[in-house]
Amino acid sequence: MTSPQQIEILDIRHFTARQLRPLLEGEAAIWCKRLRWDYITSTDLLLQYLDSRILPGFVALNRGRICGYTFCVYEGPKAVVGDIYADPGNNDPLAVTFHLARHLLDMLEAAPDIDRIEDQLLLFDSGILPAIFTGFKVFPRLFLEHDLQPSRSLPGAVALPPPQPFEICPWSEQFYQPAAELIQASYAGHIDSNINDQYRTLHGSLRFLHNVIRFPGCGTFDPMSSLILRERAGNALIGIILCSRIAGDVAHITQLCVAPACRGRNFGALLLGHCLARLPAHRYRAITLTVSEANTAALRLYEAAGFTRRHRFDALALDKPPRRGFLSLISHR
Ligand SMILES: CC(C)(COP(=O)(O)OP(=O)(O)OC[C@H]1O[C@@H](n2cnc3c(N)ncnc32)[C@H](O)[C@@H]1OP(=O)(O)O)[C@@H](O)C(=O)NCCC(=O)NCCS
Repeated sequence: MTSPQQIEILDIRHFTARQLRPLLEGEAAIWCKRLRWDYITSTDLLLQYLDSRILPGFVALNRGRICGYTFCVYEGPKAVVGDIYADPGNNDPLAVTFHLARHLLDMLEAAPDIDRIEDQLLLFDSGILPAIFTGFKVFPRLFLEHDLQPSRSLPGAVALPPPQPFEICPWSEQFYQPAAELIQASYAGHIDSNINDQYRTLHGSLRFLHNVIRFPGCGTFDPMSSLILRERAGNALIGIILCSRIAGDVAHITQLCVAPACRGRNFGALLLGHCLARLPAHRYRAITLTVSEANTAALRLYEAAGFTRRHRFDALALDKPPRRGFLSLISHR
């Protein structure tokens, strides 16, 4: 299919990792520059998937030259847009982005087994994607960062011992199930469960943990700076903070939550303070995170701890209207 801009869109499965590597390496350099994120591990994983020809997506060519790509992943009846990227060296990267997004959306909107589409593409400034993802709900989000300069005291760093009868422990595998239960409870009715529907169920929360801990998409999980807060005597968790390494010296908080019944007692600040205090010993010089702009409780907590705003982007989600089956189409004639 060719447009007046000479852009051709082809199925990504026609392409090998070798052909797409230069484009992906160019993108990785932008992740590093804009978000201090070493994207190479994610790139390597993506290249493996490309060579196994199982990734749904498209590649854009401009006069035969690869200039962009997009792909999605399926989680049951949900599709998550994994990426849309256009080479900024191309003369109209935004047009390429729109072509790619349109092809992906046409495919997903027509897919009878897909009932929800989500995306959170961090490299796009807020306001760009809603123009093409029409009908999607839009959730502005912020990318925050905190420089851990040794000379600066950590504002709000509350690495104090937790009050009795609570304790803070490093993450270990035994906390998988109670952490998933805590995540599900923490995000009930929360704005972020409109962005990521995994938060709505226990199964989904386990899957979220699995993705964060075992897959490099969100950096490499760091059990040393990931902590849980619990009552010494009980099994239930009061709060968790999970961290990944996204570059040699940059950590990223992938989860912070406190049980609804225990909020407003400084437990969130305590977990954050303990996490921040541990980072310099593990060679970190900065920490980042993403937060929904409307999540004022979390935003205040982060800004009070010294985080500043680096970037604003959009999360988007669409619940497709139920499809009318063949029989109902006939009966409506
Ligand atoms: C965000 C969250 C972890 C905060 O935990 P918490 O234990 O209630 O927070 P703290 O008691 O430590 O509060 C720390 C600061 O955050 C702010 N804060 C916390 N809860 C707040 C609320 N409901 N409204 C406004 N500000 C709030 C305050 O500035 C507070 O400082 P203070 O001592 O001046 O009151 C908790 O609300 C939560 O789990 N929310 C759901 C999950 C979530 O949104 N996680 C963050 C995703 S990015």
